[in-house]
Amino acid sequence: VGSERINTDIVTLTRYLNEEQTKHKEATGDFTLLCHALQFSFKSIAYYIRRASLINLGGLAGSSNVTGDDQKKLDVIGNDVFIAAMRSSGRVRVLVSEEEEEALVFDEYPEARYAVMCDPIDGSSNLDAGVSVGTIFGVFKLPIGAKGTKEDLLKPGTELVAAGFTMYGASAQLVMTMRGGAVNGFTMDNALGEFILTHPDMRIPKKRAIYSCNEGNSKYWEEPVLEWVNSLKQAEKPYSARYIGSMVADAYRTLLYGGIFAYPADKKSTKGKLRILYECAPMAMVFENDWVAGGQAVNSKMQRMIEVVPEHIHDRSGIFMGSYDEVQKVIDIHKKHG
Ligand code: AHG
Ligand code: MN
Ligand code: MN
Ligand code: MN
Repeated sequence: VGSERINTDIVTLTRYLNEEQTKHKEATGDFTLLCHALQFSFKSIAYYIRRASLINLGGLAGSSNVTGDDQKKLDVIGNDVFIAAMRSSGRVRVLVSEEEEEALVFDEYPEARYAVMCDPIDGSSNLDAGVSVGTIFGVFKLPIGAKGTKEDLLKPGTELVAAGFTMYGASAQLVMTMRGGAVNGFTMDNALGEFILTHPDMRIPKKRAIYSCNEGNSKYWEEPVLEWVNSLKQAEKPYSARYIGSMVADAYRTLLYGGIFAYPADKKSTKGKLRILYECAPMAMVFENDWVAGGQAVNSKMQRMIEVVPEHIHDRSGIFMGSYDEVQKVIDIHKKHG
């Protein structure tokens, strides 16, 4: 074979999870089994997303969810797939999904120690246009004997033990982090049916002249937000605007290229649009990750997003997340406005 030897040191997600588990002597293996169930749900959702237009799974389901979103057929399918995978893992006590009004308590597993927060299909309004969508997830570890009550669920992102998101784009990408660990990126190898570690220890560039927000809302923005966006447009070298409209796609680009993603609370949506438990907090854990990833994530009051406690399971928040220096610009302008 000579010089062009192949790389045989392939780290699959399965191998990564097993190696992570061996680092924790006291590990029971429950978290690993939960992650395998998460992995299966991502593979299964990716499968349905890719076939949607072929087997008429596009379009609306004809229902809407508790946050007022029209549900796409794939929202419902993604939700069903995710619930089934979490329930059958036997490691989940309670599940919060964007598509379920109430938290789902799995009383058949009273010993299970994990609470999972999930946005089964993020960016679903873009689905029929073939734009990348994904799944966002967060995992809390519950105290022994927990019953999956509201108190178990209304927690800040600082208590997450793991979080991340997938993006079903040209290939299926998975970005995940565990508390105190790095942010790692995996790419699905469809031939092997395995997620492969392709982006170990992801760091977000400290700054980048890219901003990502829906300027169609600017009529309703508060003064500091208007001043911030104008400062980018009037900069010596004006910033580039990039907005895909799927949080997972805008987040993945921001993580890789740098820049800032913002969905501010405004006069129309005073609490913002994005939901804390299954969009803002998991993303904040990825972007900050004890600053391992090097970014910042704050809400519209410039508080650390990861410290915000939701008032109910579908509570919303404004969010600014991205390169450390880019988020700092927003914070500094808000400070000036007092
Ligand atoms: P979801 O599809 O899970 O309901 O989330 C949609 C969110 C998020 O993906 C995106 O950042 C935002 O909605 C886009 O909102 P606008 O269309 O108002 O810009
Ligand atoms: Mn939705
Ligand atoms: Mn979403
Ligand atoms: Mn969704």
